[in-house]
Amino acid sequence: MGTEKEPIGVIGVGWVGLCTAACFAELGHDVVARDILPEKVESLSRGEVPMHEPGLPELVSRNAERLTFTTDMADVLDRTRLLFCCVDTPPTYSGDADLSRVEAVVDELGDSDEHAIVMKSTVPVGTGRWIQRKREGLGYVSNPEFLKEGSAIKDFMHPDRVVVGADEHSEAFADRVAALYEPLDGPIVRTDVASAEMVKLASNAFLATKISFINEIANVSEELGADVSEVARGMGLDDRIGPKFLQAGLGFGGSCFPKDVSALKQLAGNTGYAFQLLTSVIEVNDLQKRRAVGKLQKHLGSLVGKEIALLGVAFKPDTDDIREATALVLAARLQGEGAHVRVYDPVAAEGAREMLGGTVICESAAEALDGADAAVLVTEWPEFAELDWAGDVKGRMAQPIVVDGRNFLDREALREAGFTYEGIGR
Ligand code: UGA
Repeated sequence: MGTEKEPIGVIGVGWVGLCTAACFAELGHDVVARDILPEKVESLSRGEVPMHEPGLPELVSRNAERLTFTTDMADVLDRTRLLFCCVDTPPTYSGDADLSRVEAVVDELGDSDEHAIVMKSTVPVGTGRWIQRKREGLGYVSNPEFLKEGSAIKDFMHPDRVVVGADEHSEAFADRVAALYEPLDGPIVRTDVASAEMVKLASNAFLATKISFINEIANVSEELGADVSEVARGMGLDDRIGPKFLQAGLGFGGSCFPKDVSALKQLAGNTGYAFQLLTSVIEVNDLQKRRAVGKLQKHLGSLVGKEIALLGVAFKPDTDDIREATALVLAARLQGEGAHVRVYDPVAAEGAREMLGGTVICESAAEALDGADAAVLVTEWPEFAELDWAGDVKGRMAQPIVVDGRNFLDREALREAGFTYEGIGR
């Protein structure tokens, strides 16, 4: 090991775990990261990074000496005291979080009072209390992650805030966790465990609410002749509102917002409280994902036999994550209407092959657009803005119709080139 900095244990080397491990290594800590999958540990040990996250491969390779990957929990317990739990907590059918992987970790840790679990995984409010009852000796600190896919390294190094929650008997561990983040420039919020857990869920639910809100403003703006981009600009300059997360589009996806909104609604429901606002946030989002269908029908009439190109499969750019991605919902819906769907994504299409059913997966945007009756921009990958719309694309398409699901393309230029352009809320 060799440095004086606190060694860090990371349990579960998915996207959160690997970003956390690599960033702590970058800050000078020795990190022992443990995953149960031997193949994953072997490939990580060779320096291979199995997900698309800008800057992550460089960080892993630059800090290779400080990063150890293992399948052996005893090794982690032996070499580190702060154990960052980064296993996933996917949604169950009912919308609750599945805690089986967290439980398995807790079962392996025993009751040593030299160790603390530092919970990064997103868990229901009350999980910390439950674990502390089960393992009274073990320290427990809640330290939710606020990383965004595609900018995780920057988010880690320049946090808006770091939340560290602990109850009385774990205050000393919480001090050690807070100290890890002191070199960074964000404020550290010290609080109790349940409040820390709630900060995480409430933050994601609030951002999701902001998106569903602006999407509804967009839908109404379309009817009333306002332009949602202008409306968002005007609203966002109010300090109390802020300009971020006011981008209207085809709904939010990903592994976090849909899951965390449902989980919070479900948690509230378990206490007998009906969280009505979140029910609407979810419903609005589900409808928004299909909104491009109506826009296509407006220009094409029946979609039976029509060739539709979907540009983008990832739930947002700079990631290969397709969880809850709009493209999946849209492709299925369009096929249900009898359309032939072709998709292209620079990194995410292959992983979606199984879920995309009868959809044709193309190797390039040009291939997807060849002979298309209409194109739908689903994910705002920069390369889609750089296409030669007026020349090459127009020449390829059977009909020059574009539904810009993220208000991302140059509307004026497309119209000038003779395209029928439909944005969201404009
Ligand atoms: C989100 C949160 O932003 C992170 O703070 C949090 O740590 C993370 O979940 C998590 O809980 O792990 P992420 O899912 O990576 O991060 O993605 P976002 O960039 O937040 O985008 C979520 C979705 O909202 C995307 O589908 C995006 O297209 C959509 N979105 C975002 C909009 O439709 N409009 C906007 O203005 C912003």
